[in-house]
Amino acid sequence: MADPWWRDAVVYQVYPRSFADADASGGGDLPGLRSRLAYLVDLGVDAIWLNPFYTSPMHDGGYDVANYCDVDARFGSLGDFDALVTDATALGIRIIIDVVPNHCSSQHPWFQEALDAGPSSEARKRFIFRDVPNNWESHFGGPAWTRTPDGQWYLHLFDSTQPDFNWRHPDVVAMFDRVLRFWLDRGVAAVRIDMANTLFKDPELPNLRAGSTLVPYYDQPEVHGLYRSWREILDSYPTDAFPGPRGAVAEIWFNSPDIARPYLTKDGLPQTFNFRLMRVPWAAAELGAVIDEAHRLIADSGGSMPWVLGNHDITRMVSRLGIDQTLIRRPTDALRRGAVEVDVPLGTRRARVAALLLLALPGTAYLYQGDELGLPEYLAIPADRREDPTFHRTAGAVVGRDGCRVPLPWSGSSPPYGFADRPVRTWLPQPPDWAALTVEAQLSEEDSMLNLYRAALRLRREHPALGDGKMTWLNSGADELAFTREPGFGFVANLGDKPSFLPSGSRIILTSGPLDGAMLPADTAIWYQR
Ligand code: NOJ
Repeated sequence: MADPWWRDAVVYQVYPRSFADADASGGGDLPGLRSRLAYLVDLGVDAIWLNPFYTSPMHDGGYDVANYCDVDARFGSLGDFDALVTDATALGIRIIIDVVPNHCSSQHPWFQEALDAGPSSEARKRFIFRDVPNNWESHFGGPAWTRTPDGQWYLHLFDSTQPDFNWRHPDVVAMFDRVLRFWLDRGVAAVRIDMANTLFKDPELPNLRAGSTLVPYYDQPEVHGLYRSWREILDSYPTDAFPGPRGAVAEIWFNSPDIARPYLTKDGLPQTFNFRLMRVPWAAAELGAVIDEAHRLIADSGGSMPWVLGNHDITRMVSRLGIDQTLIRRPTDALRRGAVEVDVPLGTRRARVAALLLLALPGTAYLYQGDELGLPEYLAIPADRREDPTFHRTAGAVVGRDGCRVPLPWSGSSPPYGFADRPVRTWLPQPPDWAALTVEAQLSEEDSMLNLYRAALRLRREHPALGDGKMTWLNSGADELAFTREPGFGFVANLGDKPSFLPSGSRIILTSGPLDGAMLPADTAIWYQR
């Protein structure tokens, strides 16, 4: 493993509500996760990133936090969290948590105090209250401002139950210092910073201008001073014992390297997510360009950018890769609405290639729970079972993210597929046809997606090139991605529609699918020893 550990860790993202349900309430919980740690050890991951499990009315899956320093009763207790850290540490797995600094829940005591205290009060200054709103829109649809009974408006870039903090207020800064220390003291190895680029807004709150690329609630320069101070907090923790140096990864969505660059500094947050592999069509030239762009950014800055192929906000990989790839760039919800044809077998073949690509690239890899099972997006969730605020704020016009958040299938042939150990109405319904996708079913099928991930993760740990080994592109056909890592490792993927030649004189150590003699079939990748 590289030094520090987070530079090449494989991190498994747990969406706690959908991982495992110990108390058969229909929603996952921390004891459920704790009871399944052996699965993650066996899979071969180094760390777990947990989506929010804090006290919350759950209007946005827990990204509406009412108490940053406690566990919501539906997930367990602080004692359960401590027990999870103890057990995971004993098994060599680090725990990464989510910190949500842009906004809290409208149930947070500070926001309740602000509502009670009225206009011009000190309590309102911790949030962004105005007498007149501007034209900003919520990421979830509709206006970004909601009016209070006394006539003032407050800003919320997300749901109306998620008021944005005023990050120019010292109380907000001080509270998050405490929150970071609270969890670092409990043994967390790193934090993931939600919406890391929106904390500060242009103080004038100017209207968004049509056609302008400047967004007044993104990337304000003050945020870097804040992150330098957070880095000092992280670095003040001992680095010698497990979990070692404490990390942090910023959630930044960027379309151009110029946006990402200021976040990639030696004294700011240690890591910035790279989501670009999910945002380009599945084609060798585009994927190669994204990888090159990341390498340039990292080389220039000394920063580190974890690769991501799926998460709780993005349509499942198997479905995404099974649609007409010209649709990927458009901001379309059509796939989730069922308005686009999805070829799941094709998407699955490509997702197997994607897994081998992700785990062969230099750097940290984030895996989203269920992608190791090849779960497709669940498209048939009835409207009255949908939870995503996006769906509700747009009166169903934008379907939202529920389809990638469905409870995991562990075993058995019908819902709840071992998610709970007895019949239960799960918080989101599970499809009736997932029997072949359960962990149990896939463990006994040699060529399953799960066994591919297990094999790849085992090789990644063992192979000397798959830590820090230098990567070099090979000359290859236009539809191929081919590179080496030193010492002695090679990767080739055929993303075209015709077979290509396998590299000569190589010893294949892993394939994403069956080969055809000396040929590498379309939508197939190999790892080989040179
Ligand atoms: C990004 C999170 O990943 C997403 O799930 C959430 O809805 C928004 N931030 C708001 O917190």
